[in-house]
Amino acid sequence: KKPVVTVIGSINMDLTVSTKVVPRQGETVMGDSFATFPGGKGANQAVAAARLGGDVRMIGAVGSDVFGNDLLEHLRREGIDTSGVASVDGVSTGTATIIVSNGDNRIIVAPGANHEVTVPLVERFEEMIKESDIVLVQLEIPLSPVEYVSKLAVDHGVPLIVNPAPYQTLPEAVLRGATYLTPNESEATLLEADSPSTKEKWITTIGSAGVRLNKDDVIVPGYLVDAVDTTGAGDTFNGALATKLAKGSSLEDAAQFANAASALSVQKLGAQQGMPHQEEVESFLKQQG
Ligand code: RIB
Ligand code: NA
Repeated sequence: KKPVVTVIGSINMDLTVSTKVVPRQGETVMGDSFATFPGGKGANQAVAAARLGGDVRMIGAVGSDVFGNDLLEHLRREGIDTSGVASVDGVSTGTATIIVSNGDNRIIVAPGANHEVTVPLVERFEEMIKESDIVLVQLEIPLSPVEYVSKLAVDHGVPLIVNPAPYQTLPEAVLRGATYLTPNESEATLLEADSPSTKEKWITTIGSAGVRLNKDDVIVPGYLVDAVDTTGAGDTFNGALATKLAKGSSLEDAAQFANAASALSVQKLGAQQGMPHQEEVESFLKQQG
């Protein structure tokens, strides 16, 4: 039986321009190409978890517009249960305007409907959370539903991964309720200043170097690949980690699997385009020996 992974988080349309030159203030440059891709940290993590063997349920919100409808349909095609995704009139679907240059990115998120993820919405899906093997949340939605989810996860004894991205100072209840916190290096610096005592829960991603399991100060090494687009690499990591942990893997095994999944994901443009399926990750790991 597939493990049940519930993701509460953002759903965006990514508006991605590839360019060799990034404009300075007041400057106009000619770029190379433009494309739209499904994105948003919540949706990205949900898609990663689904491709890697999770029975995934998503709680989130889109606008009742073209982007929103496309994104909902896309999530369903990935086999994700979208009964927890509200389609809200009068607000636009979240977008992320992304400049990709030399494998690196700059992102501006306009949250739109993601701000319609509220406590009452999450309340309606308490049963879904209760039935989950693991719950995964990030910070592109307001903090009040994040706090509420933490409370539900604790009440029902469900493990909770909090990916503190983009960084915000977290309420005590979230820090306490989280089973794991998954900052990247810059988020870890901010989290250290806010809440050093949570360090033993951290799984810090350190780019292609892999991850640090802070509790035992162990590094699980990553894989060096040629990156086309690193957008969503952290999301692939989180979705993969959640699925593996929900299947009962050890933290080290789950981290190794997640490192491989995120390395594979950066080889294509778009957050979700390169996300591998379970068999691809397994054969990649075998090749690596
Ligand atoms: O983590 C990557 C994601 O962040 C992108 O897909 C974009 O939507 C932004 O939310
Ligand atoms: Na990618």
